[in-house]
Amino acid sequence: MTDKQPQLNGAYYGPAIPPVEAPRPRRQRNCCCCLFGFCWKLLLAVIILLVLGFLVFWAVLQPRAFRFQVTDATLTQFNYTSNDHTLRYNLVLNFTARNPNKKIDFYYESVESHVSYGGVRFASAEVLTLHDSFRQRTKSTDRMSGVFTGHYKTVLDHDQVKKRLEEDERKRVFPFDVKLQFKIKFMIGDFNSSSTKAKANCYLEIPLSSDGKTPMATEFASTNCHVHF
Ligand SMILES: *[C@@H]1O[C@H](CO)[C@@H](O)[C@H](O)[C@H]1NC(C)=O
Ligand SMILES: *[C@@H]1O[C@H](CO)[C@@H](O)[C@H](O)[C@H]1NC(C)=O
Ligand SMILES: *[C@@H]1O[C@H](CO)[C@@H](O)[C@H](O)[C@H]1NC(C)=O
Repeated sequence: MTDKQPQLNGAYYGPAIPPVEAPRPRRQRNCCCCLFGFCWKLLLAVIILLVLGFLVFWAVLQPRAFRFQVTDATLTQFNYTSNDHTLRYNLVLNFTARNPNKKIDFYYESVESHVSYGGVRFASAEVLTLHDSFRQRTKSTDRMSGVFTGHYKTVLDHDQVKKRLEEDERKRVFPFDVKLQFKIKFMIGDFNSSSTKAKANCYLEIPLSSDGKTPMATEFASTNCHVHF
């Protein structure tokens, strides 16, 4: 009957465990133990110091990512012709980047941007090149812009995309995904970090600019982008 009793308090009622063999005494054992204990304590102390250092660093600097926003968007052409499978576009995006930090400056080395419609990446532009890279001071905002113009050979005739395109053309408002790739440095006084990469994603709904005949559907609303490192 004892076998079928419920196990109480996690006690073990199964077959007896064979006794653990006592470690054989060794001559060097004490010394080894001593060294091991010392190393362990040293390691622990180093880890605690590192964690503390990191916490203090974090508390003093309070690092925060930059904020990125699309303040204005001007779409004067977005025209797909199915006979030659060509998308003609003319889009200007105005961005602002803000450094919300109290202690850390950013150094923007380069910014690249890519625009997609319906999952098709049709345009890329350099928003900032090494040539016009700049240092952004704390609590300040700077403007950048991207000009996307040209044509792109693609097939937007798959049922889903075509339907969507027709609807967007009717509404004269087009949804775009904009992805930006940053190369930036962090700067504190005279110290600067090595280059790191950051990304921003923006989802934009951009009305086609008025051609004089048809009034513009809506105004473009300033949109925040999602920034991550
Ligand atoms: C699109 O492009 C074609 C050929 O360039 C032109 O005939 C047509 O009027 C354009 N449509 C719009 C809405 O701009
Ligand atoms: C937007 O960017 C374009 C291209 O750089 C520029 O000409 C225009 O003045 C900018 N508009 C605003 C409102 O900053
Ligand atoms: C970063 O620091 C190095 C030396 O510390 C300096 O030579 C370099 O010009 C700095 N970079 C920028 C972008 O200021």
